[in-house]
Amino acid sequence: MARLSRARTLLALLRAGNLRARLRVTRDGQAAIRLGLGAAALDTGVLDALAGGPVTTAELARRVGAVEEELLAAFLRVLAAAGLVHDDGVRWSLAAGGRAVVGDDLVRASYEAFAGFHTGLYRDLGTVLAGWSRRRDVVERGGVIARVSAAFEPFVDAVLRETVTAGAPRRVLDVGCGAGLQLATMLAAAPGAEGVGVDTDEDAVALARRTLADRGLAGRARVLRADLRDLVAEETPFDLVLLANIVYYVPVGERVALLRSLAELLVPGGTLLVVTTAATPQLVSRHFDLLLRAQEGAMELPDADVLVGQLREAGLDPAEPRRMAPGTPLVAVSAVRPG
Ligand SMILES: C[S@@+](CC[C@H](N)C(=O)[O-])C[C@H]1O[C@@H](n2cnc3c(N)ncnc32)[C@H](O)[C@@H]1O
Repeated sequence: MARLSRARTLLALLRAGNLRARLRVTRDGQAAIRLGLGAAALDTGVLDALAGGPVTTAELARRVGAVEEELLAAFLRVLAAAGLVHDDGVRWSLAAGGRAVVGDDLVRASYEAFAGFHTGLYRDLGTVLAGWSRRRDVVERGGVIARVSAAFEPFVDAVLRETVTAGAPRRVLDVGCGAGLQLATMLAAAPGAEGVGVDTDEDAVALARRTLADRGLAGRARVLRADLRDLVAEETPFDLVLLANIVYYVPVGERVALLRSLAELLVPGGTLLVVTTAATPQLVSRHFDLLLRAQEGAMELPDADVLVGQLREAGLDPAEPRRMAPGTPLVAVSAVRPG
């Protein structure tokens, strides 16, 4: 009887049609709940408060400043169901999933970014489409954007090391240096070289200084708060200039002028290395492009071939764009200033 009833239910589900779309929205909805949940667990301070060891609900409420203890307990039960916390019947502690979040800044920043501006784009898209407002993520969220960009580090690292080993630069410049990871990589790969990092965002500048200090490279590097449009040639030009994950913030019509001004910072024979997400039909690329186009200012992802043409127009000699990781729209283009 029960088997017959289950078969009837299954048949009803299939007959209703649109099963694929219904399953997809359920799967996507559950992923959205997990994302919001993880972000809230960090934002409320619950995960960090549990990092010190197991505590009761009452103690946890005191630590995170929650007055709604019953509600906090219900929230903790959701976190337990998601594998982030564990309940021994008396006290709450971090489960393996929660420990993995607490100890990894890239995971923290990703929760913040995806639950925040990445999905906020679609929540508020109506107002942007209606022309009422533009987004200000790039201006206001530079710190978290720089932290999330660390996800690209392993891919960028290999290309950077190769470029540094081939060119043995004595002076390197990292434009829009974010957390300073690539500047640190270049300096580590070029012992004795000096480096300059510039970024407009105060948090990013502080992060970059900390990265360099942590890696024992502060003595060979300066990090300045400056806009890439205001860079002027220094007395001693650079052998290598890196423009990683930033060219898309510059309006297309201004890119040749920017690339030309960066070329002028190079010694003859020096290299400008541009790393960027390129415009491709992939979902992640299309999403990022929309996010950029919805900002104040005129931002958009570059087409890799157009970028090569712009580098040439700026007086540089560009190589073919290199895909940096299979299946991703991340490309690197190196261009040499003719000697
Ligand atoms: C996506 S992050 C990339 C950081 C780093 N280059 C990387 O690849 O990990 C972009 C960085 O560029 C900085 N930025 C944006 N507009 C800038 C400008 N006009 N001048 C200098 N830095 C800028 C942001 O503050 C942010 O730190």
